[in-house]
Amino acid sequence: MIKVAIFASGKGSNALQIIRHFEGNSAVKIALIVSSKKDAGVLDIAKEHQIPAITLDKNTFLSTNDYIEFLEIEGIDFIVLAGFLWKVPTGLIKAFPQKIINIHPALLPKYGGKGMYGHFVHEAVINAKEKQSGITIHYVDELYDHGAHIFQAFCDITEQDTPDSLAEKIHTLEHTHFPSVIEKVLLAN
Ligand code: GRF
Repeated sequence: MIKVAIFASGKGSNALQIIRHFEGNSAVKIALIVSSKKDAGVLDIAKEHQIPAITLDKNTFLSTNDYIEFLEIEGIDFIVLAGFLWKVPTGLIKAFPQKIINIHPALLPKYGGKGMYGHFVHEAVINAKEKQSGITIHYVDELYDHGAHIFQAFCDITEQDTPDSLAEKIHTLEHTHFPSVIEKVLLAN
């Protein structure tokens, strides 16, 4: 059984799709939800689905290995970042080599990096008058939004699109593709 921890900071709509996708799966278990915010919506989702959840302490997460030991004791095999806003510390990346993936709401390498998340990304894409946007699912390395790409999906941008309408299109792509891409990566490992 491959045990997966989902790291999130927000509503958790991606986490919810992933949880639903793997419900009843005999090879993959969503074993833990890890949040960087104590009032994040993703914690309510964890409760509704009886999945253990923890809220990180920022200093402990960024400056100690305490959480790495905790994840290893919990038998976590793989980490999925689904709207997790903190940079993953090098120690965690080294403890889970090629076993941490992230979803970014744009077509990396453009519109990525520190501060490029959520609405800021869609605003930048619209302001640049891009004709297309999309999602990038990638392995996590020591730099923000920089690791090897696993998958990209695309959507067109019209004259009428706003950052909010683009966010809707991107969320639809995320919810459609992220769970199955995770499954392919897990079963290929
Ligand atoms: C998504 O847009 C994802 O691409 C980004 O953070 C957002 C998370 O949204 N990394 P949610 O919390 O899953 O609704």
